[in-house]
Amino acid sequence: MKILFVASELNPLIKVGGLADVVGSLAKEIKQFGHDIRIILPFYQSLKEKSLDPLKKIADINIKIEGSDEPVLVYQTILDHIPLYLIKNDSYITNGDIYLEVSEFSSIARFLFFSQAAVELLGEIDWQPDIIHVHDWQTGIIPLLIKIKGFPIKTVFTIHNLLIQGQWNYKQSLDFLGLTGDEISSLKQTKQGLYGKDLNIVQQALLNADVITTVSPQYAKEIKTDSSYARGLDTEIVKRADDIYGILNGIDTYAFNPKSDPYIPKQYSIKTLDDKGENKLYLQKKAGFKQDKNIPLLGMVTRLDIQKGIDFLASAVDDMVDMECQIVFLGTGQEKYENMLKQCAQKYPKNVAAYIRFDVKLAQQIYAGVDIFLMPSRFEPCGLSQMISMRYGTIPIVRATGGLIDSVENITIKQGLFGKIKSIKGTGFWFDALDKEEFVTTLKRVLHIYSQKKLWRQIQINAMNTDFSWRKSAQKYIKLYKKLFQI
Ligand code: GLC
Repeated sequence: MKILFVASELNPLIKVGGLADVVGSLAKEIKQFGHDIRIILPFYQSLKEKSLDPLKKIADINIKIEGSDEPVLVYQTILDHIPLYLIKNDSYITNGDIYLEVSEFSSIARFLFFSQAAVELLGEIDWQPDIIHVHDWQTGIIPLLIKIKGFPIKTVFTIHNLLIQGQWNYKQSLDFLGLTGDEISSLKQTKQGLYGKDLNIVQQALLNADVITTVSPQYAKEIKTDSSYARGLDTEIVKRADDIYGILNGIDTYAFNPKSDPYIPKQYSIKTLDDKGENKLYLQKKAGFKQDKNIPLLGMVTRLDIQKGIDFLASAVDDMVDMECQIVFLGTGQEKYENMLKQCAQKYPKNVAAYIRFDVKLAQQIYAGVDIFLMPSRFEPCGLSQMISMRYGTIPIVRATGGLIDSVENITIKQGLFGKIKSIKGTGFWFDALDKEEFVTTLKRVLHIYSQKKLWRQIQINAMNTDFSWRKSAQKYIKLYKKLFQI
């Protein structure tokens, strides 16, 4: 099959969150199955500094924006054996880095422009995909544009996150795209297509894509059945419910491998798990904590936004410190959450460290060095960090939601006579509500088990033995793509 991904992020070139990892890894895995997969990405300003070789100019097109021509240059390169097209335009795309201020039209215009250019490009090159697979709001307008053009191409839309849906004044957005609105009504969607007075890009994607996926089976269930997860798009989700599939993400098991990770001070495997302790001592030293292998060291690597439950965790820091935990945070995002974490670190310099930055190397040192990984998400379409941490024998405590339920098996302990432990199953710990008491009780239980070294070791082995590779998931996507041609 000929498959085209159009996306706003792509690991290792440009990344804000898990979307980049998914686009990069899934494309590589699909390629492994012998399909002709290609990717289109915006040529952001920061990409100019990357050494992308060889970069070949393949097209020079004009896009009509509000009556005047905007020039677009398209470059082609090869990344991980996959052809990559980069869309360059100085007014909308190459004038800044990735996500612009969301309250400005420029942030929407940039991706409407990019999506339109990607569709126009198809008329310029002698390669036509069978399937275009787009990701989140940034490229969610493409299924509609493809329908309007009448191209015989099937479209797949993946929801990574429903929090941001890409909304702007209907008229202004349509004018920008050079549409009158009649094209949309001719597709019999005027009524449903209007989201208040705004165009809502995710809504358009839900209405127009041939098939919709999201990144875990549980999140698919949640958005279909619980309006707080559907975030205002209940009607469209219910309407398309039979076409919405949940496929759990994988992780890049080559990059995330404690056996060969070049960034961690001491490499280890399931057979040499004691060596993991060296990474812990390193991290304790770096953070200015007491170096002691028996003190529970907790960590979190995350985007700092409301989804991730940072405020909740910050409110429990006093209790965690009371329980003699050490905690390392790494992430960037909204200023208020950055400040919350900085304040915790200032209050408890010997127990809490907050690294407010994007740092791939430190992230891997945290996955390898801490004992327990924290993920108290309000909602979580999939979540990748919990899988990465398990691969490093670091046990996650997660809120039971979305992909966290699908990827972490909650610990169950079978006890025999006199409370003797007979067996332990599972790879991590769940807690249900974002309720401090419940979290503290869970953490106490976790620390009690942590102090029993043999039991803890068993959980680490369970976690490290879980298969989080992309293979299974990629096969599911391919099956879905094939299904599109049997309709
Ligand atoms: C978004 C979601 C996260 C998911 C990632 C990749 O960042 O919030 O849960 O893992 O996309 O699909």
